[in-house]
Amino acid sequence: MIYAAPHAMLRAHECHSPGLRSVHEGRGPSRPRARTVRILLLGCRGQVGTELVRALQPLGDVTALARDSGGDLENAAELHRAVRETRPHVIANAAAYTHVDRAESDPDTAERVNAEAPRVLAAEAARLDAWLVHYSTDYVFDGTGTTPWQEDSVAAPLNVYGASKWQGEQAVRSSGCKHLLFRTQWVYAAHGENFLHKILRRAALQDVLEVVADQHGAPTGAALIADVTAHALRLATAGKLAGGTYHLAARGDTTWHAYAQFIVAEARRLGAPLRATESNVRAVTTAAGPAGARRPLNARLDVGKLESALGIQLPDWRNGVADTVAKLIASAP
Ligand SMILES: NC(=O)c1ccc[n+]([C@@H]2O[C@H](COP(=O)([O-])OP(=O)(O)OC[C@H]3O[C@@H](n4cnc5c(N)ncnc54)[C@H](OP(=O)(O)O)[C@@H]3O)[C@@H](O)[C@H]2O)c1
Repeated sequence: MIYAAPHAMLRAHECHSPGLRSVHEGRGPSRPRARTVRILLLGCRGQVGTELVRALQPLGDVTALARDSGGDLENAAELHRAVRETRPHVIANAAAYTHVDRAESDPDTAERVNAEAPRVLAAEAARLDAWLVHYSTDYVFDGTGTTPWQEDSVAAPLNVYGASKWQGEQAVRSSGCKHLLFRTQWVYAAHGENFLHKILRRAALQDVLEVVADQHGAPTGAALIADVTAHALRLATAGKLAGGTYHLAARGDTTWHAYAQFIVAEARRLGAPLRATESNVRAVTTAAGPAGARRPLNARLDVGKLESALGIQLPDWRNGVADTVAKLIASAP
């Protein structure tokens, strides 16, 4: 159930889903009542945050906050108050400054949100002996070579966003709090702003699209991230999964160009009236592409550590992308 804390700053808002009941309700009196896990979720309107509102429901009482409802990551006093009023067993931080290009000219905001706020949340988690769930990025790596990056590979971010996220990671690890730190990449969802939406919009308006073909990674659905997070958190809070840093991404690797081709092909197959065709999605190099923050060419993440720790097999990136394209085409006016 979504729990709205009493303080005015923690009022219910659109993250609140009325009618949801706690999984602890309705049990017979003879059964021992499990401890209600209190979860404080920040960034509940982002791609991953929206999916976490759904996926964390079965784990306990979720207080879901956004920037304008008591969860502004640039306001440390507000974060302290949110923690004080909810006394969480778990703090899940899905909020971040994710404007990679804008961060180049706004490094202070990126640092406040991506490095300072995680430091505050980690300190609060350590004080309460709570778990902290936090997300980071493939952009902590410099993109050299072709080998997938492992959790302990050397970080060397190329851009301000990556550097701020790396600082946030270090703050979480050095705080001593129990944490699950998931590095993910190329996130998309049916909601929110992302590459998948951008390609569908442009393909409806333009005959030809140019997309960079020399950056490698795996498009990863926000729903997958949230579901795996909930599973990992369940195990971690039961003492069955060690805390630490894990790579959480879909399997397989592709380029933005091949990803765009796949989106256009799927949408056309489902009857979307697009002007662009798969063969008119043209490959360009990063150097010839739009100017902006530098991005790693090799952003492949090795997900083996998480798969073996959880005993799962992460799905190929095409599965989730195809599902999301189908959902968007079906809901188009
Ligand atoms: N998107 C990707 O491709 C990608 C790739 C690798 C890693 N990640 C990481 O994955 C996590 C989730 O990303 P996402 O894709 O869900 O990002 P997203 O869709 O951009 O959502 C980020 C959320 O953070 C919120 N936020 C920004 N500044 C805030 C502040 N000062 N206080 C409170 N909330 C604030 C945003 O709210 P507003 O809408 O109000 O700004 C937004 O709801 C982040 O840690 C991100 O760094 C994402």
